[in-house]
Amino acid sequence: MTERIVLAYSGGLDTSVAIGWIGEATGAEVIAVAVDVGQGGESLETIRQRALGCGAVEAYVADASDEFANEYCMPTLKANALYQGHYPLVSAISRPVIVKHLVKAAREFGATTVAHGCTGKGNDQVRFEVGIQTLGPDLKCIAPVRDLALTRDKAIAFAEEKGLPIETTKKNPYSIDQNVWGRAVETGYLEDIWNAPTKDIYDYTATPEFPPAPDEVTISFQAGVPVAIDGVRVTPLQAIKELNRRAGAQGVGRIDVVEDRLVGIKSREIYEAPGAMALITAHKHLEDITVEREQARFKATVGQRWAELVYDGQWFSPLKRSLDAFIEDTQQYVTGDIRMVLHGGQAIVNGRRSETSLYDFDLATYDTGDTFDQSMARGFIELWGMSAKVASGRDIRVAGK
Ligand code: ARG
Repeated sequence: MTERIVLAYSGGLDTSVAIGWIGEATGAEVIAVAVDVGQGGESLETIRQRALGCGAVEAYVADASDEFANEYCMPTLKANALYQGHYPLVSAISRPVIVKHLVKAAREFGATTVAHGCTGKGNDQVRFEVGIQTLGPDLKCIAPVRDLALTRDKAIAFAEEKGLPIETTKKNPYSIDQNVWGRAVETGYLEDIWNAPTKDIYDYTATPEFPPAPDEVTISFQAGVPVAIDGVRVTPLQAIKELNRRAGAQGVGRIDVVEDRLVGIKSREIYEAPGAMALITAHKHLEDITVEREQARFKATVGQRWAELVYDGQWFSPLKRSLDAFIEDTQQYVTGDIRMVLHGGQAIVNGRRSETSLYDFDLATYDTGDTFDQSMARGFIELWGMSAKVASGRDIRVAGK
């Protein structure tokens, strides 16, 4: 029987050419798998037909947008995960869900190998292959760009020679990856890290310099997950989409960073994640009133580690799973409403309320009638500083000898 290979198919030039390229190089049949993670753009049916037109023996489309929002974006939100303090893991969290569907398709169509369009220089190859090793340890991996010398120029020549149903003339100088959680743009003119991004780079966000009138929004959360916007019930996917629209119109969530890739390269990336950044900001502010101080401090460290693991392709690892359990436990009381103003590239919280809040007005108030016994403070400070005071006494004594 002819060997079968499942290819992660985007509909773009490289993966379209990869169908025939892999076929010629290996003699295998190629099954194209497109996964909808809310990337928008062309219809999935158009993409499916293109795959067939490029020689795929089967083309499979998976609608994973709700699954992606519920099982990948929501854990990222609960973790307030920002890699290196900036990047909400847009591409990093989409790879594991794509892998899940690739492995499923491989089983369904009797494939022995999974292929993807990544280069040998990035993080995504690692995320794909580590994921496949974990979910389908018997499956082999192949990356035509990396392993079969499929360069951009060769791809264009191949598409023209074979008359593939794909646009090869339109030269987009950027490499773009997008889904409902955000959009990542790199290469081209951006590789000079002193160059400011030009307007044409952005798609999810409007220029924040000339914003429309301020937009006040109330986001309601239940156990860390958004459940309503301005009182209207929403699913996680709807919440992200609605905030992509409203925060995007205000230019919220533009990020320009040089980040550390897992393969040791520093690389410049422009992100836009209006919905994700608005949600993370709101969620963090709700945690500020509902999560106990020590738990909150520790959670910040856990969230950072979680972001690194996910960035580094360890989505299916035991440590990531353990950290998920910790994070989930902290979300028990993260229920309530956050009001924020979206304007001029910023999402600024100006109100919060929660039935499970730890904010105690009577303790906090400077008005008369507070319930805080100020006389307790002196003794507390005396003991709190005791250890450092004893050490300091020793330092003075030793220095004086
Ligand atoms: N640097 C990001 C990451 O590793 C995004 C990778 C894909 N970016 C792109 N523009 N194609 O998660």
